[in-house]
Amino acid sequence: MTEPLLATRGLEYRYPGGIVALHDLDLTIERGRKLAVLGSNGSGKTTLLLHLNGTLRPARGEVLFDGRPAAYDHRAINAWRRRVGLVLQEPDDQLFAATVEQDVSFGPLNLGLSDLAARQRVDEALAALRIAHLASRATHALSFGQKKRAAIAGVLAMRPEILVLDEPTAGLDLHGVTHLLGALQQLHETGTTLVFSTHDVELAYSWADEVALFHDGTVLCQGETTTVLKDREMLQQARLRPPLLLELAQMLCEENGGGERQPLPRSRDALLAVLRRKLASPKDGGDECIDQPIIML
Ligand SMILES: Nc1ncnc2c1ncn2[C@@H]1O[C@H](COP(=O)(O)OP(=O)(O)OP(=O)(O)O)[C@@H](O)[C@H]1O
Ligand SMILES: [Mg+2]
Repeated sequence: MTEPLLATRGLEYRYPGGIVALHDLDLTIERGRKLAVLGSNGSGKTTLLLHLNGTLRPARGEVLFDGRPAAYDHRAINAWRRRVGLVLQEPDDQLFAATVEQDVSFGPLNLGLSDLAARQRVDEALAALRIAHLASRATHALSFGQKKRAAIAGVLAMRPEILVLDEPTAGLDLHGVTHLLGALQQLHETGTTLVFSTHDVELAYSWADEVALFHDGTVLCQGETTTVLKDREMLQQARLRPPLLLELAQMLCEENGGGERQPLPRSRDALLAVLRRKLASPKDGGDECIDQPIIML
């Protein structure tokens, strides 16, 4: 069996003052997956993500990289951060250079790439986030959504194997979310493993392959998205409720006799398409009922 790309075992972390932010935390990040770290405010998502690139070091337990315990010396941390890119919750905590272009080029130049190669990385990253037109703009003078995309571009320019994003869609409008998810989807399709934190069950349902459900500093369960998000008791424990899309999809499925094989729609458009078909021909149960959700971004 291949080792997970990144994992945590029995992680514990305390902030000064003895505040236990994480405890007994086991998490597995498999190569090529889109994993949602889902939990309510204060459940420990950010603290966990800061462990995934070595920014925080656990008081107990360990982070495993390719199945081996991660080391925390300078060289190891540098190598680690080349492979795991972390996008912080607040873009102002991430952006530091005067212009977008300077900010995004910092990582590649720091890797020792030539000016030309760094330039290519910057162009690529800006194009992926559709902010090429902002290249020469002052970072402090961007809107929140623009800052967010510039911060992600800076991490992308490092071409990380795993991209870890803390609340990537928070504060973005519909257009911003759609474009960001489109850009992340493209990265994912070219092999980047994605881990993102959110408290938004709808986002997790429509977009993640897998969900790690957080509560009170630990992972209550980790599994396939639909399986985890169907578990009402577990969600209640995490102070969350099932996604509306999933509830509606399940109702439709039951309406059709439950036993039939109907795909569970995992996007607003997919659900509306099923509803439209059903309304057009109510007697025709519509589609087969399977637990292979239709996903449309
Ligand atoms: N710098 C800090 N000092 C002390 N306690 C902290 C600090 N940062 C976070 N905490 C505490 O650690 C716990 C986990 O916080 P964390 O920020 O990881 O949660 P979160 O799930 O990311 O929350 P949110 O959804 O609000 O971003 C909380 O109880 C929080 O109050
Ligand atoms: Mg947070």
